[in-house]
Amino acid sequence: MQIKDSVAVITGGASGLGEGAAEMFLSKGGKVAIFDLNRERGEALAARHPGQAIFAAVDVASEASVQAGIAATLAAFGRIHICVNCAGIPGRIGRIVSKKGPYSLEDFSKVIQINLIGTFNVARLVAAEILKNDPQPDTQERGVIINTSSLAGIEGQMGQAAYSASKAGVIGLTLPLTRDLSQFGVRVLTVAPGLFETPMGAGTPEEVKQQLIATLEFPKRMGQPAEYASLVAFLVENSYLNGEVIRIDAGTRAPPR
Ligand SMILES: NC(=O)c1ccc[n+]([C@@H]2O[C@H](COP(=O)([O-])OP(=O)(O)OC[C@H]3O[C@@H](n4cnc5c(N)ncnc54)[C@H](O)[C@@H]3O)[C@@H](O)[C@H]2O)c1
Repeated sequence: MQIKDSVAVITGGASGLGEGAAEMFLSKGGKVAIFDLNRERGEALAARHPGQAIFAAVDVASEASVQAGIAATLAAFGRIHICVNCAGIPGRIGRIVSKKGPYSLEDFSKVIQINLIGTFNVARLVAAEILKNDPQPDTQERGVIINTSSLAGIEGQMGQAAYSASKAGVIGLTLPLTRDLSQFGVRVLTVAPGLFETPMGAGTPEEVKQQLIATLEFPKRMGQPAEYASLVAFLVENSYLNGEVIRIDAGTRAPPR
């Protein structure tokens, strides 16, 4: 699917990987609706691209909030072709049982609610709009949905049960959503990033960062949002890719801790 003149909803688009994806779409002549809770960053990004980008204060885990964001997108641009789900939280690191006792069920539920249920919530509501598109004359596509999992969804480390389970759930959505939507000409893909330099990891102590970088194969550095974004562009533009989980992780296989 061509990015120029297409309309993309990008959750978590105010920061990090989602912001990188938004900048990529905008640089290629696409239109972007940023769905995020971070109003300050989201509005600033949209303001830099008047007529091409809007910000909608959306909580991905809320049906009403996502519906309002979709209504604002349709009011601004008329249609939606692409959905990139990047909104997510790391949750609290902690073993299932520690000296403080069992891991909090509330903390576990919150991560599942935002990372997994939020991804499905946005995908289902945006998909309903994508299905209203006419198929593109050249590729017969109506749209593309790209979800963001994590290396942790495949090789979860010690203390990462909540985050890993949420991201494994996102991987689990890939094939059934592909099969649900293929008859309508909608492709579904999942990206599983390794270690990326974004505000999410900004609080990680330098020493811990260096330990993580040492586990990478090549290149031994954190990935950049622009590298994630260039993969998203490739997934949108290559009409034959579908139903796949693509790792982007410098060849890493995460160690147990
Ligand atoms: N940075 C990494 O190393 C890395 C690695 C693997 C996967 N990921 C995943 O990539 C995605 C993007 O991460 P990032 O590193 O860019 O993080 P980030 O913190 O920079 O951006 C996440 C964005 O999501 C938004 N958000 C959080 N909860 C939300 C909600 N309920 N509704 C709407 N927006 C919400 C935040 O406001 C923020 O702008 C996340 O799903 C993350 O789990 C990141």
